[in-house]
Amino acid sequence: MLTSLPDLRLKKQADERVTVLTAYDYPTARLLDEAGVDLLLVGDSLGMVVLGMPDTTGVTLDMMLHHTAAVRRGVKRAPIISDLPFHTYDTPEQALANARLLMAAGADAVKLEGGVPFIPQIRAIIEAGIPFVGHIGMLPQSVVVEGGYKKKGKTPAQAEQLLADALALDAAGACAIVLESMVPEVATEITRQVKATTIGIGAGSGTDAQVLVTPDLIGSFPWFRPPFAKAHADVASEIQRAVSEWMQGVKSELRD
Ligand code: KIV
Repeated sequence: MLTSLPDLRLKKQADERVTVLTAYDYPTARLLDEAGVDLLLVGDSLGMVVLGMPDTTGVTLDMMLHHTAAVRRGVKRAPIISDLPFHTYDTPEQALANARLLMAAGADAVKLEGGVPFIPQIRAIIEAGIPFVGHIGMLPQSVVVEGGYKKKGKTPAQAEQLLADALALDAAGACAIVLESMVPEVATEITRQVKATTIGIGAGSGTDAQVLVTPDLIGSFPWFRPPFAKAHADVASEIQRAVSEWMQGVKSELRD
């Protein structure tokens, strides 16, 4: 069934769970769309799981535009969310100009990382009519500043801040909010208090939607997988098996 971004509110009211997966290229996007995934995310995680970078801070807007366009070509049904990468939304003007470029490349909505301090940027995007998805909790673009990936919401002060961020995004008009790596009780409480669809990753099972980085789900990036992400396939081994089988055939084949 087709899930448009406006459908999200109806699904929340009906307590219907929503599925979100990342896609970075044409074939994966097409397969996920044909499989019926509700929403696709061209995440800046592509820097790590596609481009081999140590974190997401090196991802550029040009990379996001390139991959968003490839995903667009593969998708007929699922709405596509694209990430604004690190330092491409430092001011409201910059955020809006770059959000427009992502939309022109094929996105249906844009996402950026941050809460209350980024409300002016978020308002500029939403007031221009661009559907917006928030992202709070553990923020991968802050990994260098924070000195690592740290679960959020462990102290009452952190939990209060996360709730304040979520309420501010909700009031600004975000249609969905990613809640990444936070204490499950905090994610559940945010889900209860906001109208937006909450999309959890490493935040327990109390959110409206769940998102995974697709290479974690299908086992195509075997060198690292976060503990909360269960692989449902072992694509890396299957690639290596197919390659070995083909190489053996080539090496043992007699010349005509
Ligand atoms: O970049 C990404 O893939 C993301 C998800 C982890 C939510 O933002």
